[in-house]
Amino acid sequence: MQELLQLIDQHKKDIESFDTSKSNAAESFRIKYLGTKGIVKNIMQEMKNVPNEKKKEAGQLLNGFKLMVEEKYEILKQLSAGNQQSSGEISDFTLPGDDITIGTRHPLSLVRNRIISIFSRLGFVLAEGPEIEDDWHNFTSMNMPENHPARDMQDTFYIQKNPDWLLRTHTSSVQARVMEKQKPPIRIICPGRVYRNETVSARAHCFFHQVEGLYVDENVSFADLKQTLYFFVKEMFGNDVKIRFRPSYFPFTEPSAEMDIDCLICHGKGCNVCKHTGWVEILGSGMVNPNVLQNFNIDPEKYTGFAFGMGIERICQLRYRVNDLRLYSQDDVRFLKQFAGVIN
Ligand code: DAH
Repeated sequence: MQELLQLIDQHKKDIESFDTSKSNAAESFRIKYLGTKGIVKNIMQEMKNVPNEKKKEAGQLLNGFKLMVEEKYEILKQLSAGNQQSSGEISDFTLPGDDITIGTRHPLSLVRNRIISIFSRLGFVLAEGPEIEDDWHNFTSMNMPENHPARDMQDTFYIQKNPDWLLRTHTSSVQARVMEKQKPPIRIICPGRVYRNETVSARAHCFFHQVEGLYVDENVSFADLKQTLYFFVKEMFGNDVKIRFRPSYFPFTEPSAEMDIDCLICHGKGCNVCKHTGWVEILGSGMVNPNVLQNFNIDPEKYTGFAFGMGIERICQLRYRVNDLRLYSQDDVRFLKQFAGVIN
């Protein structure tokens, strides 16, 4: 053990006086200390001569020494890079520069940004809420009290430490977050990630993205809802797109409707995406249920509102023909680089 200590001390002194002035100092340092036959490897082998009860202490010493050597090597590398530049080795400024690789926006970001920009032209402002939510904001205040059957469709992940916490199942929770702080007029658009306890496949995922919209003011009507959403789809998919509303049910809206657009993939001929109906559902919507307004002390006799929620992946599927939900989160560059240069 004593010998090991002395050996390390000696090497430390050598390192301090190592000649760093030569242009290849970093490389010769690496070979001498860190190479396969280098000093660090060598002294590591001394470990086998250390008695068992001292092994721990010796191990720490050796590791400390190794770290010191590595640090010194990093410094030398940086020095030599600096020397190369100042010694004029790279002096021809007329040479073409290095390529700058420009990253690409993720298709979901492209679509999200486009949705935000369309609605912001109608005066909707951005609002956000937490992904870890509590029961009140995600369910109860949205008129989905405990044991409400609609909760079945939105099973999610709960946090064992506090069963009141969950990963939000929809961005409708942001409606609650905003209405508890702000009084009408409210006109918000809320993009974000949501979670469901689903088995991952091409058509379902345990997380995906939504955009929620909410407009509460005096005299807001279903006609405003229709006109707003019609404007949105035309801006998103072009003037020729057709829409239809189907009556539906959501606890937080009354009446409720789902909105379909004609299938942009087969133009009504029938394909897998539209399940051979010629129509694709893109969002849920409706007039804000008076119970929801009351939960936030907004007088439903004075104010009315509409809300809607759509999946960004679905819009992306129609816009860019992406058929497998898993592609969005696999980070496969072959997929991502197809969006190079796409601005929106
Ligand atoms: N939160 C619903 C869901 O995740 C979508 C939705 C439907 C949102 C109707 C709304 C709405 O605001 O009015 O399935």
